[in-house]
Amino acid sequence: MNIVTRKFDTLVIGAGGAGLRAALQLSEANVKVAVVSKVFPTRSHTVAAQGGMNAALGNVTPDSWHWHMYDTVKGSDYLGDQDAIEYMCRAAPNTVIELEHYGVPFSRLENGRIYQRPFGGQSQNFGGDQAARTCAAADRTGHAMLHSLYQQNIRAKTHFFDEFFAIDLLKNDAGDILGAIIYDIETSEKIIIEAKTTLIATGGAGQLFRTNTNASINTGDGMAMALRAGLPLQDMEFFQFHPTGVAGKGMLITEGVRGEGGYLVNCDGERFMERYAPHAKDLASRDVVSRAIAIEIREGRGCGPNKDYVYLKLDHLGSDVIKKRLPGIRDTSMTFLGIDPIDEAIPVFPTAHYTMGGIPTNRFAQVVVPVANGEETMPGLYAAGECACASVHGANRLGGNSLLDIVVFGRAAGKHILKYLETNPYHKVLPEGVAESVLKRIERWDEKQEPDVESITVPQLKNELQQVMEENCGVFRTEEVLEEAVTTVKSIKEKLDKARISDYSTIFNTARIEAFELENLVDIGLATVISALARKESRGAHSRMDFENRDDVNWMKHSLYFLENNLLTYKPVRTKALTVETFPPKKRVY
Ligand code: FUM
Repeated sequence: MNIVTRKFDTLVIGAGGAGLRAALQLSEANVKVAVVSKVFPTRSHTVAAQGGMNAALGNVTPDSWHWHMYDTVKGSDYLGDQDAIEYMCRAAPNTVIELEHYGVPFSRLENGRIYQRPFGGQSQNFGGDQAARTCAAADRTGHAMLHSLYQQNIRAKTHFFDEFFAIDLLKNDAGDILGAIIYDIETSEKIIIEAKTTLIATGGAGQLFRTNTNASINTGDGMAMALRAGLPLQDMEFFQFHPTGVAGKGMLITEGVRGEGGYLVNCDGERFMERYAPHAKDLASRDVVSRAIAIEIREGRGCGPNKDYVYLKLDHLGSDVIKKRLPGIRDTSMTFLGIDPIDEAIPVFPTAHYTMGGIPTNRFAQVVVPVANGEETMPGLYAAGECACASVHGANRLGGNSLLDIVVFGRAAGKHILKYLETNPYHKVLPEGVAESVLKRIERWDEKQEPDVESITVPQLKNELQQVMEENCGVFRTEEVLEEAVTTVKSIKEKLDKARISDYSTIFNTARIEAFELENLVDIGLATVISALARKESRGAHSRMDFENRDDVNWMKHSLYFLENNLLTYKPVRTKALTVETFPPKKRVY
């Protein structure tokens, strides 16, 4: 097949905060960059981030990067790699200032400094009083950041392939990744992008679950491409449930509501977080708050006719605070619930939010793979943002650390790619016929295929997947439900081989894209449930009712899942920090 090939120094797959921050670093240094995005860049999911980005600026309460590091290690339930966490927390303040200079319109304090609000799991002085560390642009921080980064990339002349879907990575016999094959969603044209370096920055996989806070584009595409290229995924059993999604619907109601003084109540009007986290209360870390809500409901103290949610109360904050600091969630609440939070509480429930696991990387955003006596980096291959596992979030991410992660590691990737290109200035040879098997996979969903009207459709299978993930791999898990989930997801994968896209008579390529996305989601779902079944302890967001305690002796290690034979291996946590003492594991109380 004749297929157009385009050559670039760097291919960036994904145009969220991580991809755009890296691309900007590179374009400004005159590197030839292609950013491939399946949506127009400013529709990437970063746009939906609400509450803000953590950095120890100390504008509102005293603060230090070291306290931020402590909170992040504790929040991770000691599974985070402390070298990477130190790197991120130290880099945070300058990263925010840099964003301010790019034009991000942060909210301001009376004295003109950047506004910071308290978020969950933040403390002063290593576990003391609540800190206020989250830099915010009202409750539309991601929107402000993404637009500023996009505009800076336009200024720097980054080359965009908008509405192109990356199908698969391309590699040579030595295993080097040399670019990707991409698909024009409008025309079906396939293009090979040959690149000396590739950055995967495709975001998370929240669409695994029926009720989620994520955009419909969050289908784990980059993670699944990595799996198909023979790379592992790390710590996939750790999926974050945000405590305050709109009950039954999933839209995000920012943690910033609780940061501004909102709180949760059960059917008795009780502020129940006082029982679960006497010190931090509603600003305990997300895993703790989500479990508390699930327990309240399970024990019959939920609200509403079916007692299946709790209320997030903020009417006491007053209309000025809500209009100034939380205008976005007021809109969401009025649009989707007909409730104005100035007057009434919002019904909420823990909702799938963030993929803590992902493509294993080091703190330079280089992809790392296990070898006989440790691990090595993949030359020229990088990953950053939610699709990567650096691992700065470990078993539970703190709110406000994901916007930080994408910018810090997007920038780190850009910097390392520049260094790599200095000593690797030439393209490696792409083997003949390298795209053949990928093109076959694309043809599988081609419209010329005769539809078998009896066969199951892609949307039906997606529903099945989201349902089993929601019911069997939620806030609380057991051996029994996880075993059932593994069997069901495997059978969905088999059924997908014979499935058809929904309706061939009115087909647009978007329906075909849904099929590619579901192939990706199924592999990520399998990685998640197999890793979760194997981890026989409770740590962070992974709560096993049959193994209630954290087990540092046997389980303080990262999981690595490979697609081939669904193999699971483990590697040690990097407990040694860069310049400061290690924070040893302790019982986690808030
Ligand atoms: O609650 C929020 O605003 C979400 C923030 C985050 O996930 O970091």
